[in-house]
Amino acid sequence: MTKEKNRNSGLGALSIKNVTKVYDPEGVNVMAVDNCSMEIAGSEVCMIVGPSGCGKTTLLNAIAGFHSVTEGSIHLDGELLCGPSKPLADQGADRMVVFQHGALFPWKTLQENVAYGPIVQKVLGSREAMDKAGTMLAEAGLGDFLTKYPGEVSSGMARRAEIVRALINDPKVLLLDEPYRAMDALTKQIMHESLLETYDRTGVTIFFITHDLEEAIFLGDKVHIVTTRPCQLKKTVEVKIPRPRSYETQSSEAFRKLLEEVSDAVHEEAVKAFQAGEREMA
Ligand SMILES: Nc1ncnc2c1ncn2[C@@H]1O[C@H](COP(=O)(O)OP(=O)(O)OP(=O)(O)O)[C@@H](O)[C@H]1O
Ligand SMILES: [Mg+2]
Repeated sequence: MTKEKNRNSGLGALSIKNVTKVYDPEGVNVMAVDNCSMEIAGSEVCMIVGPSGCGKTTLLNAIAGFHSVTEGSIHLDGELLCGPSKPLADQGADRMVVFQHGALFPWKTLQENVAYGPIVQKVLGSREAMDKAGTMLAEAGLGDFLTKYPGEVSSGMARRAEIVRALINDPKVLLLDEPYRAMDALTKQIMHESLLETYDRTGVTIFFITHDLEEAIFLGDKVHIVTTRPCQLKKTVEVKIPRPRSYETQSSEAFRKLLEEVSDAVHEEAVKAFQAGEREMA
């Protein structure tokens, strides 16, 4: 256990209250989120699962400040991010996003990529930012790859570097949208171990969208299952499996039972989504 363990401990509590989001492309209303409420404690690993197209990314975008909300409010540690008087949250270094598709600058080395944010935001001088980037990449097992370009490392390494790039800003909340979706099982396993180590070091609150139910249970403190569109909270499953978790955890009886519970709830919603799709096609 390092001295730094859980330096964010207890920070990063998100309160999502009665959030509704209606898109209006060319006058055709699409209700993506409907009166959705969720409480996420500081330092919690909160996993979001639900059918494709149900509104998960929309919710993440509202937290990040990429999209406005139509109704409802979101608070971070009691401070209003967005609400009736301010539908679009400011984008801030307290909430950093990692998407499924990589977003590293291909013309910068891993170290330069990680150092870039604090330099342009003038939070750190370039020497300081490069030093901090080097240290943090080494902590994530990438110490030998500081001078490599994204195209010269594996997708798993690039994804780890992206998470480090988000963390150098010392966010309260890390927002992850299916970051490991396209990865093979073995690479995912390494990603999971690396993310959990990062979590142990920082105590950052994690809001993580996934379709992989085993991933949701393995990583999460809670799994929030959301409904087919429009997105609402359907059920919360608490994962009371002690940490640190190892891959053997996945063959335990407790894990299997949780997987069954989450699968049943998601399956019910997937069937509804499929039937709704058939109705639209008819
Ligand atoms: N900018 C937009 N304008 C109009 N409609 C949108 C926009 N973004 C998303 N939508 C619609 O809102 C709904 C929810 O989309 P969203 O991307 O949030 O779902 P999701 O749960 O993240 O899906 P997936 O699991 O496939 O990533 C979909 O019907 C989508 O087509
Ligand atoms: Mg999505």
